[in-house]
Amino acid sequence: MKILVVGSGGREHALAWRLSKEAEVIVAPGNPGIGEDCETVAVSAKDQDGLVDLCRSRHIDLVVVGPEDPLIEGLGNRLRAEGFAVYGPDQAGAELEGSKAFSKQLMVEAGVPTAAFQAFSDPVAATDYARVKYDTGRSVVVKASGNALGKGVVVADNFEAAKDAIHRMMVDREFGSAGETIVIEDRLVGPEFSLLTIVGDENYVSLPVAQDHKRAFDGDLGPNTGGMGAFSPVASISDSLIRQVESEMVEPTIRALKARGISYRGTLFTGVLVDGGKPYCLEFNVRMGDPETQALMMRIESGYAQALFASATGTVVPEITVSPLAALTVVVAGKDYPLQSSKGIPIQVDQVPIGSKLFHAGTALVDGNLVTNGGRVFAASAIGKTLEEAKALAYAAAASVHFSGARVRSDIGEKSA
Ligand code: GLY
Repeated sequence: MKILVVGSGGREHALAWRLSKEAEVIVAPGNPGIGEDCETVAVSAKDQDGLVDLCRSRHIDLVVVGPEDPLIEGLGNRLRAEGFAVYGPDQAGAELEGSKAFSKQLMVEAGVPTAAFQAFSDPVAATDYARVKYDTGRSVVVKASGNALGKGVVVADNFEAAKDAIHRMMVDREFGSAGETIVIEDRLVGPEFSLLTIVGDENYVSLPVAQDHKRAFDGDLGPNTGGMGAFSPVASISDSLIRQVESEMVEPTIRALKARGISYRGTLFTGVLVDGGKPYCLEFNVRMGDPETQALMMRIESGYAQALFASATGTVVPEITVSPLAALTVVVAGKDYPLQSSKGIPIQVDQVPIGSKLFHAGTALVDGNLVTNGGRVFAASAIGKTLEEAKALAYAAAASVHFSGARVRSDIGEKSA
């Protein structure tokens, strides 16, 4: 099988690395690290014509779309119309991530447990709503409805913080048009986890759960990021809780999409928070998690390419063989992430330990030299007999990377119990 992976980040490096153990893999456009593991071709994820030409000229059997943006922009529709098998939903399905207002509405229609919310396109009405919440003893989370790369979510500790977030999103347009509409939802408190499900026409298969660390700094402090690290398995999440999430969130959502005439082939990422022992859906995404994927791919042993192909072609998705070992990923970010990305800073990389893998997330080659090219620069991942062993290896791999301003959270995996 010949697979084209579309994208250029750490998630795509992990996907391509794993898939290349089972199939021939080409990545467009990729990054320097991906280029060490697979063939890369300089076609942008935004260049639909270029990707169609690439699929034709290279006789691609399966396209795996990594990031959400191309899916929201209709890359799935285009490639399917040209006759290619695509892992990733069409534009209509991608609205689950492209519009939080749509996603929350679908959750309500489907009976998926989620926090109480309202959507707003008027900042004054939004601020009034938030004020009433704080006056009645609640606190809220303010979310840009559009796609803001995981950063358009503010957990507001008080009314002033909520008001400020509303202003930044709706008036200052910090996230561009993604903040035209916002969703304000009641804040829930408890452990979170990510369930990534391969959805096909006939069935679905979930990967093991992973837990992400969304805040920028140790102790879950600072602004939300795309994710500073992840691990899998998550000891505190029982199998019965996972089954509950599948039956209360994944299945009703697939049914609700089908009822709207949307055939969904790709990853359904369910972000779950457990409040008072009850799971609530925080969000749906339409692609693999980043950096959850960089941990999960370390645990997959076989059957992944076939499972994605089955989803993309509407046949029964087979089970995947997953290692019982633990995996952990530490993101090495630039100094000012998530406020600013890091560009053009020279990088040195030493040998990483056996059992670890350094996924490139935001790197580039300039005149043959490796430099930073993004907020999250590397995702150092490892597998071990225990989470502690994986953690020690992943941190050792992270320490093999040197660039000015390199920063990690030091507490990845500590919420595992
Ligand atoms: N790590 C969270 C996300 O991928 O959205």
